Amino acid sequence: MLYRLLRPAVFALEPERAHRLAIHALRLAPAGQHAVQDGPLGTRVAGLALPNPLGVAAGFDKDAEVPDALLGRGFGHVEVGSITPLPQAGNLRPRLFRLAEDRGVINRMGFNNAGAELAHARLRTRMGRPGVLGINIGANKDSDDRVADYALMAEVMAPLATYLTVNVSSPNTPGLRALQDEGALAGLLDAVLDARGEGGPPVFLKVAPDLEPADIDAIARIAIDRGLGALVVANTTIARPPLRSRHAGEAGGLSGAPLKTKALQILRDFRRATGGAIPLVGVGGIATAEDAWQRIRAGASLVQLYSAMIYAGPGIARDITRGLERLMVRDGFASIAEAVGSE
Ligand SMILES: Cc1cc2nc3c(=O)[nH]c(=O)nc-3n(C[C@H](O)[C@H](O)[C@H](O)COP(=O)(O)O)c2cc1C
Repeated sequence: MLYRLLRPAVFALEPERAHRLAIHALRLAPAGQHAVQDGPLGTRVAGLALPNPLGVAAGFDKDAEVPDALLGRGFGHVEVGSITPLPQAGNLRPRLFRLAEDRGVINRMGFNNAGAELAHARLRTRMGRPGVLGINIGANKDSDDRVADYALMAEVMAPLATYLTVNVSSPNTPGLRALQDEGALAGLLDAVLDARGEGGPPVFLKVAPDLEPADIDAIARIAIDRGLGALVVANTTIARPPLRSRHAGEAGGLSGAPLKTKALQILRDFRRATGGAIPLVGVGGIATAEDAWQRIRAGASLVQLYSAMIYAGPGIARDITRGLERLMVRDGFASIAEAVGSE
């Protein structure tokens, strides 16, 4: 409600400035209430207990500034990052565009982040606090050994993370998505799992929505073989469905409502390819409880969102979780886990 009143003022700002303002506002806001752990939406994924299936997708809190404030708004988990070993400025501005008429976003941020050292220092101060914290890791654009970057990040961040996500699917770092290719991916994941060490947090893999069927089968096989915790499906798309906004022609990754159909389809493809042998995290164009529920019924054990928060504000977490409780009862399911893949 409050956000709806503020939105015209927020949208009058350049999108990146609005985003900084949102982070500051969250930092200053009262702590809020974490979602209750043993409520009706409680679920277990990759050995982790979550109060509900809804999380904040990577990219909103790149530098791990406000994970607890987001958990306090009712999200069941928060994925911070992507974080790279060294600080990185990212691409030239403007690089973030609101496609308001389409309820979408295009970004070509390019892994701008303050680097591992600062994020580590911040996250160390919150160690021991409740809440599921995913740390999404990436490689520096100029690195001459990207696999070593991911391994280093896994080693450094493992003690601070409830789970780690290996992001090889950003369209804004040239060549990064080639790490999804079969040969490269197996080597990368072996290095990450080795660096994370025995007894470390589960490792998730985040994939692009622009994959061919053969890629999907290969990725599914490798992920299951390596015992990954989950596949995060998916990142932003380089495809351009019909769009109305004047920013439609901007280069970068598209997210929000125009990604919804494609993200749902690729989730179904991964469900088919994995047969439920590995949990899936559904991301892309989720804006309502119905969207989240459809993704769960299609095979997602967890769901995440980012773009919809730009249009609806952080109150979206409580709206969606309340709606999910209603939909679960309506369709006769006793738990989220029971509904996963039931379509
Ligand atoms: C501005 C922006 C920055 C993003 N940065 C990252 C990132 O650093 N790492 C990552 O894995 N995904 C990143 N994403 C992708 C989101 O995590 C998510 O996969 C995608 O936006 C689809 O979800 P949505 O439609 O709910 O936004 C970013 C998305 C946006 C809009």
